[in-house]
Parts: sequence; C-alpha cells; structure tokens
Amino acid sequence: MASSLVKEINKRKTFGIISHPDAGKTTLTEKLLLFGGAIQEAGAVKSNKIKKGATSDFMEIERQRGISVATSVLAFEYKGKKINILDTPGHKDFAEDTFRTLTAVDSVIVVIDVAKGVEEQTEKLVQVCRMRKIPMLVFINKMDREGKDAFDLLDEVEQKLDLTVTPLSWPIGMGDRFQGIYNIWEKNIKLFSPENKQRVTEGIEFEDLSNPELDEIVGESAAQELRDDIELLDGVYPSFDKQAYLDGDLQPVFFGSALNNFGVQELLNAFVDIAPNPMPKESDLRVVKPEEEDFSGFVFKIHANMDPNHRNRLAFIKVVSGKFERNKNYYHVRLGKKMKFSAPNAFFADKKQVVDESYPGDIIGLHDSGNFRIGDTLTEGEEMHFKGIPSFSPEHFRYVNNADPMKAKQFEKGIDQLMDEGVAQLFIMEYNNRKIIGTVGALQYEVIEYRLEHEYNAKVTYENINIHRACWVEVEDESSEEFKEFMRVKQKYMARDKYNQLVFLADSAFTIQMTQEKYPSVKLHFVSEF
Ligand code: G4P
Repeated sequence: MASSLVKEINKRKTFGIISHPDAGKTTLTEKLLLFGGAIQEAGAVKSNKIKKGATSDFMEIERQRGISVATSVLAFEYKGKKINILDTPGHKDFAEDTFRTLTAVDSVIVVIDVAKGVEEQTEKLVQVCRMRKIPMLVFINKMDREGKDAFDLLDEVEQKLDLTVTPLSWPIGMGDRFQGIYNIWEKNIKLFSPENKQRVTEGIEFEDLSNPELDEIVGESAAQELRDDIELLDGVYPSFDKQAYLDGDLQPVFFGSALNNFGVQELLNAFVDIAPNPMPKESDLRVVKPEEEDFSGFVFKIHANMDPNHRNRLAFIKVVSGKFERNKNYYHVRLGKKMKFSAPNAFFADKKQVVDESYPGDIIGLHDSGNFRIGDTLTEGEEMHFKGIPSFSPEHFRYVNNADPMKAKQFEKGIDQLMDEGVAQLFIMEYNNRKIIGTVGALQYEVIEYRLEHEYNAKVTYENINIHRACWVEVEDESSEEFKEFMRVKQKYMARDKYNQLVFLADSAFTIQMTQEKYPSVKLHFVSEF
C-alpha cells in the first residue's frame, strides 16, 4: 500500500448538501467556498449565483426555466483537506438525479429552514441517506429570522426524519433577539451582530456557563435561558459519539444563518474533524477499499453539452480506489473494452481543468461520445460492477412515438442516449414492442422533447397511458406454473427496462396488492436493484 495514496485519501472529504428548495443550500455552499478561499467575492454575492453561473448551468432549457438541472461538483481546500461538494438539484422533478448523486458522496449536510421545519423534499432525500447509512450533519438555517423553538424543531427532525440528533451548537435567541450561538463542540460563544453581518468574529471561550460574565455579554435573561437549555439538552439528547455518527446512527445538529455567514465556520470545522474520508464500496464481487493500488470508479452522472460548442457529453466518475491517471488504459467492464482518457477534468470552485491524476473521493469528468451509462464501472481489468445505483419506479408514464419517419435513426439515438444519461427510464412492452418513457416529474417530458429537437434533430409525440408504478419482477423459478400464469394473465402489462430486466407496469395500487396476493412467489419491487 503506497503511503502517498493513503495520504491523499486521508485528505479528501466528499459530500453533498440536501434540502428542500429555498432552505439555503446554495447560500451555504457559497459560504463554504468562501472559507476555502475558493471564491473571493463576499457578502453581496447573490445566493443563486453559483447555481446560475456558467459552471453548473449547461443547457439552454435550464437557463430558460431557471432550474439547475445539473449536478455540479465544487472543490475547495480547507485546513489541509480537499473537500468536494457534489451539488444536488433541489427541484423535485429531478429527485432521481439527486438520489444517484447520493451514491457518490461519503457524507451529507442536511439544511433545514428554522421557520419551515422539515419539508417534503428533505424527508425523501434523508430517507435515502438513512437507508444507505450515510453520515449526516444537520444545519438549522435562517436563525436571524423568527422560527420554530429549537427543542420543538429537533423533535420534528427526530420524528419526521427518523434521526437521532445531538446538538453541537445552540442558539441564543432567534429572529430579532438572535444574539449568537453557544458552540457546544468547541465550548465558546459566538456573538451575532446584525450591523456587522459578514464578519467572522472570534469565539469567546466559555468552559463554564455559570460564569457571571455570560450575563454581562448576552443579558441576564438570555444567559439564564441558555443555561437552562444546555442543562436540559444534557438530559434529553445523547452525547456526541463519532463512531455513531459515522455509522449513520447519530446526527449532530448546528444552528446558524448561512446568509449572514454565521455558524457556518463552526459547521465546517466540525465537518473537517469528523466527516468520513472516502469509504469502501460494495461491488458484485467484493468490497473495494479506497487504499487498494488498482484504480476503480463508477459513473454516477452524465451531462450533455456542457460546452455548447461541443456536442459531446461528460461522464462524472467517482474514484473509489487507487490512482486514476491521464492517458492510462482502463477497463470499461460493461463493454469489455479498454479505454484511455487524454483530457480528464477535475472540478474546482468555479472551473474545471485537465488533471493528470485523481484519488479516491475525487470526481473526474470524462469526455464521452456515447460509451458511458449511469452505473458503469471502470477498473484496471477486474470484472466487477459497483452496486447501489438503482432506478426508482417513475411516477409518470407515457408512450413515445417518433413524429418524423424520416428521422427514425436520430430519434432512436436520441432516446437511447438520453436514457443512458438517466433523464428518464425507458420500458419496452413485451407484446408489441412499444416504447414507454417513465419519469419522476412531468417536466422531464418537456426536457426530452426539447433536447431531441435541439440535439438530435428528432421530433417526439407522447400518448397518455394509465400506469401507476413500475414493479421490477423477481422470481425464483421461471418454469413454475404460477409464474407462467402470471406472465400469461399480465402479458399486456409486461415490459423490459434498459437492462432487459422484467418489469410489471401496474395500473393501480389495488392491482399491485391483488397481484401480490394471487402470485406470492412472484416478488414485485419498486426499485430496480434488490
Ligand atoms: P436553495 O439553494 O436551498 O434553494 O436556497 P438559497 O440558498 O437560494 O436560499 C433561498 C433564499 O433564502 C434566498 O433568498 C437566500 O438569500 C435566503 N437565505 C439563505 N440563508 C438565509 C439566512 O440565513 N437568513 C435569511 N434571512 N435568509 C436566508 P431569496 O430572496 O430567495 O434569494 P436572493 O434574491 O436573496 O438570492
């Protein structure tokens, strides 16, 4: 095991920020980048700048809609660590994109708006993180505004998100009365000054809160309230345990205001101390450790037309093990062929550039002319596939037709490539070979239509179809009478996904229930990997 490799691995922390739209993810990202010195402009920077900047907004449709469809990568250095933030689209129609990005992070920060509390999108995303046991830190944002009581909010977090929290900082008042935070982690007080919002002040040491100096600083009643709160905290919440956090069993909570750059450094300092380095990843053969000499990685995101002057795509690869080198031959396991990359990109705060080598935890962007598909594995020759990039059942389904017979080839190619990118899922009906496209949000149909027209010169029409959910079928014995009957009775609802897996397209929740009762040996799954 090369010690230089281990050193690089120990430097890296790759994470994602998840939240409901408007909770402050972009603002927090920006402040983190400021601390890393990765961007210079402070204060006046509009929160959406990063989202709307040229680096993460590639398609015209995104600009038109003002929605960041892209999942970009932002990297910065802080306290000797290389931190990679994988940005996740907040829009619910692109939730599947976010789910896939979560397969490439080693930890997450969950941002919650103190006034709104736990919102729908946060619930869904946290659920995925919980299932995968991803370590999570929680940041309660917008403390400069009037919001929910801190204890009530933590109750809500525990109940709705099914988490076990331990506060590592605690607010002193909120809204107009917001005075600052007590940093339980570093045992100091940071005062908030509304006039001097953007300046990061030094914390005032407070080993012992009974020190009467506290009354002088924050006033008697706020001091007493803080003392009471902290005493109560000790009794109510488990104390911090790093291993429990790393195992996904305990979630530290921080309070602050991203907009005012308040409480953000505390979060970042704790993150740098406790967040995991690149983790091992399971493949179909074995668990792959980051410190293995041989390179391996997987594709979690494909983005088209990053540069409008070039039509090719960029495949985002998470390095799992070893060292990735420019111009070295790697093995594309699904295609069974060797490939080398002369211009791999690494990502920085506001740019990408060609790099010679990358290490576990890093994300590299490889130019691709159509060889990659979400979930593809690259190795130095080993025939293994990384697991854990499942497709979830779409919620919308429509037949797709080629509207221009002269452009059949373009149409086929366009559909094929868009599905490889994971824009939507394609199902082919078994009995008549018709194509059905399933999506998480209705917006994707417009994205597909637009992109087919602009990138492939093809036209599409859609037809409604009554499907409730896609159920991936698992059966132990394909020759059983029960399975044969299931296939016969349901033949008009049977389809294949892009990986040729058998899928039952059920028209209602009731049908699913009845089918499960009638054919108990046929297992139905709402996720493609089981
Ligand atoms: P998102 O990426 O999670 O969608 O949220 P974003 O950071 O874009 O923030 C959403 C809104 O919340 C923005 O206001 C932002 O300025 C505001 N915000 C973020 N953090 C704080 C905070 O700590 N306190 C307060 N009071 N507001 C905060 P906007 O008016 O929608 O956008 P903008 O015009 O200010 O950019």
